[in-house]
Amino acid sequence: MPATEESNAVRKQTARVFFAIWPDNKTQKQLGCLVEQLQLEALCGGRKTKQKNIHLTLVFLGEVDTDRLPALRQVADEISDSGPRAFDFRIDEIGYWKHNKIIYLAPREVPPELSYLVSRLKNGVSLAGFPVEARPYAPHLTLMRNALCRTLPALPQPIAWRAREWLLVKSEQTSGGSAYAPVGRWSLE
Ligand code: 2AM
Repeated sequence: MPATEESNAVRKQTARVFFAIWPDNKTQKQLGCLVEQLQLEALCGGRKTKQKNIHLTLVFLGEVDTDRLPALRQVADEISDSGPRAFDFRIDEIGYWKHNKIIYLAPREVPPELSYLVSRLKNGVSLAGFPVEARPYAPHLTLMRNALCRTLPALPQPIAWRAREWLLVKSEQTSGGSAYAPVGRWSLE
């Protein structure tokens, strides 16, 4: 049988990736407890984000060819060389987005170091030829998906942690939900 164009083509491997900041272990536990304490599941239904999966997305890339991952790492290396600063991330707001049924936590004030890092990243990945989100950046940590909320409980107290590193993360869908694996890691000074 003659080889078809399709059988000859090398199928490109892709990965779903994004840059993100992960809370430290203590903060992760606090966030996990908060979901229980506020009884978000009972109040709004939906699906909790697993404690270990709670994170702050910096820039979402989506599906990229795996042979382009070095280009993303290079963008991050260049930003890292200029010494982006560590910062305190204080979450003091809980919110609900009706359009995507997400309950999230967010900072009332966005740390300037975070805005700077995100704008450098957006710029860098865009120059490297990756499409980037045109919407303004809305920093948030997703706590619940598929939630239906009329009213939200108040946040009992703010939660804060010091962001000292950022990651390039690969997201995979498994039978147990999303699984995240770091494929790059850079520190904040
Ligand atoms: P979410 O938590 O608000 O859904 C991995 O999927 C991360 O990337 C999640 O934090 C998710 O945000 C974010 N994400 C998923 N799809 C996205 C998109 N199309 N644009 C921006 N961020 C997205």
